[in-house]
Amino acid sequence: MRDADCVEFLQWALPQMDMRWPGFRKVRRQVCRRVAARVAELALADLQVYRAVLAGNAAEWDHLATLCRVTVSRFLRDRELWFALGREVLPAFTAQVPDGGRQLRCWSAGCASGEEPYSLTLVWYQLVQPVAAGWKISVTATDIDDEVLRRARRACYGAGSLRELPAEWRQSCFQRRDGEYCLRRRFLEPVELLGQDLRRHTPVGRFHMILCRNLVLTYFSPHLQQRILGRLRDALLSGGVLVLGSHEYPPENAGFASWRHVKGVYGKQ
Ligand SMILES: C[S@@+](CC[C@H](N)C(=O)[O-])C[C@H]1O[C@@H](n2cnc3c(N)ncnc32)[C@H](O)[C@@H]1O
Repeated sequence: MRDADCVEFLQWALPQMDMRWPGFRKVRRQVCRRVAARVAELALADLQVYRAVLAGNAAEWDHLATLCRVTVSRFLRDRELWFALGREVLPAFTAQVPDGGRQLRCWSAGCASGEEPYSLTLVWYQLVQPVAAGWKISVTATDIDDEVLRRARRACYGAGSLRELPAEWRQSCFQRRDGEYCLRRRFLEPVELLGQDLRRHTPVGRFHMILCRNLVLTYFSPHLQQRILGRLRDALLSGGVLVLGSHEYPPENAGFASWRHVKGVYGKQ
């Protein structure tokens, strides 16, 4: 399949699924490979025929949406942000009640194979807990994709996923097993993994911190972004923060403002 044909197809199809083409530009090759495999699987001549198959076929649109899922992630993705979370943002919450006995509630929305929620528990145990006696963390981690959630439950990773971790964390927080790095139990315990579609569902309760990185503001249409950001804002406690990806910024009227100039962190207004 020619790149130009696939680009034209995606520019036609993505808006109809409430997604936006610019987010897919850089990662289109993996999506195009999957679309090409689907066209071959259905024994169709080309993408024009596939368009005709999609017409009025809700089940095929649903299938196409799964082909457009990008599930790439890694531990401490954008490493500076994670050290800022551990040294500045999370301690700002725990310092409010210095005698502890409180629980910090976090939500990782679009958690992929667990790299993001487990980065949070790593940062918690390595940087925050030593200065926040009596505090506990709980992380609700949601994703739409059953396969990535299965990998998250297993919590074993290749070396590439760990490349941004300090060597000392890699050694002390993981066990080597059959060539993989498996996260030690204590880092899994605060994390609850749930299959949820962010377009429709929000986990129960309200949160101090919501991580929604490299998903809504990258891949979803502006209209869907507004709707979901409104729900994320409602799910934050007063004083809570939203954490975004390094190339993502909340729209001006979404009710978020830069938090103490920490890049990627936004306070609820
Ligand atoms: C590119 S990954 C980002 C992972 C992580 N947040 C990060 O920044 O490294 C996007 C994740 O969002 C998930 N996702 C896509 N659509 C979703 C939806 N409607 N509801 C929940 N998760 C979704 C995908 O399955 C994928 O695991």
